[in-house]
Amino acid sequence: MAKGQFLSVFSPATDEQRKANFEDYWAFTQNHGGELMEAEQDLAKKRAKLKSFQDNPVKLRTPLADPDAFYRNYVKMQDDPKSLDRMTLMLCAIYKFARHEWVGIKGAWDVVPDMANSHTVEDKISRVHLAEEFCHYRLFDEMLRTFGLDKVEWVPLSPWKEKVYEFFPKVPGVIMDPPAFVTELMGVSFYFHLHALFEDILADEPEVKERVQALLDEITIDEIAHVGQRRNFIGPMGMKFSKWMVTPLYKMFFDDIPEVGEIFDVEQMIKDGLAFDFNDVPDHMVEKSWIPSYCKA
Ligand SMILES: [Fe+2]
Ligand SMILES: [Fe+2]
Repeated sequence: MAKGQFLSVFSPATDEQRKANFEDYWAFTQNHGGELMEAEQDLAKKRAKLKSFQDNPVKLRTPLADPDAFYRNYVKMQDDPKSLDRMTLMLCAIYKFARHEWVGIKGAWDVVPDMANSHTVEDKISRVHLAEEFCHYRLFDEMLRTFGLDKVEWVPLSPWKEKVYEFFPKVPGVIMDPPAFVTELMGVSFYFHLHALFEDILADEPEVKERVQALLDEITIDEIAHVGQRRNFIGPMGMKFSKWMVTPLYKMFFDDIPEVGEIFDVEQMIKDGLAFDFNDVPDHMVEKSWIPSYCKA
């Protein structure tokens, strides 16, 4: 990851470049996830990868001191977050972030065309993209199980928030594409910070640290590709709007998850999002992910 190898994700692109990049992404994504299993909202290669983790479970050397503190607060914070230990705050934050993602895709899955009715390369890309997101919530579930949390339920959001997520995919692309792109970018910013937090909080749990980082890497490799792919939907005006939207969207989203402010540096995440240029992505992730041609120096 030599500095200067890649350019800002906000770099301009012509219509021809974007068209060619959609074709290139479509070839990449079919190989990356393997066969789409639409009825199961799953992808063959991703399923096999998850199974390899499940078949070789790893456990904490020292079990969680107070799993009830997690179960009491993971859906909705009941306690004063300042009264909770950092491990519990981190686990609650992981669940809440993943839950938003799960709700978003659940809403979109029934609205966007299925593969049989996808007639453009963009539609096909979007269908596989959603299947990948379903794989992410399963990987997050496996992450929580690694901490011994095997009673996690995936709970819908409040009815009006669910409605927002169901409405979102029906909005015309010119309006929907910038927030969809910035949401992916926010995911990558969050996952890089989470990876670093594992280093810190799991210093005494090397096996679990390695496992949850591997689970997170699986997700992050996809999200890096999603960032480029969603950027590729957007023209020049939309890119200006996207950049403007980074700060308010990150703030609004993370304000809603009280534990994030306790253990994450949201201001730094915003700076990272605005400066994102793929150069800090580790080589082993770049190799497996996808970057638009116009973001390569
Ligand atoms: Fe995701
Ligand atoms: Fe994504």
